Amino acid sequence: MSTHLETTDSGRDEMKRHSLSLKSLVKALQSVTSLPSLEQIYEWLETAQISSEELQPYLGFKEGNYWRHRVCRNDFVEMLVLCWRPGQRTPIHDHNGSHGGVKIHRGMLWETTFSYNPTSGLKYKSAREYSPGLVTGSDVPDIHQLGNPDVSGQDLVTIHVYAPPLGVLHTYKPGSAKIDLYLPDDTDA
Ligand SMILES: [Fe+2]
Repeated sequence: MSTHLETTDSGRDEMKRHSLSLKSLVKALQSVTSLPSLEQIYEWLETAQISSEELQPYLGFKEGNYWRHRVCRNDFVEMLVLCWRPGQRTPIHDHNGSHGGVKIHRGMLWETTFSYNPTSGLKYKSAREYSPGLVTGSDVPDIHQLGNPDVSGQDLVTIHVYAPPLGVLHTYKPGSAKIDLYLPDDTDA
């Protein structure tokens, strides 16, 4: 990952003119007939102005793990809302062929990125914090871990768009060359 897009004042004005509600974003996602590029996903998320009222059906937290709520999914793209209590985080993973973007709706997201080499294994690369409104993303080879830091003292809500929809992910461990498989819990998605 991690590409972070700064928004200028003129960019913000432009966005207001073309801002996407949740409903119009879902409509755009459902109308795709091929895999959207990472740039297209950034553009959708950057121009999305989604209210907490619109997100209400997809908000819900649980203890023990972050909660994934699926908003829509087709052959090419899916949208999820993830709800995180402080201290909840993903395993270190890649997206196994999918690319995607994340927009922070509420709270604070910490992302740690890693590099992998079959001989030397997994190594820490960088860390970054994202506040509400920011968009970040992962291209196909990127390895990362996302989470709501336990010191944040607040819940985190993030909006995710992946193309193609996520399946089984690869997970990694620091200092190890072993790659495991991980199927995100879709019970409630
Ligand atoms: Fe990810």
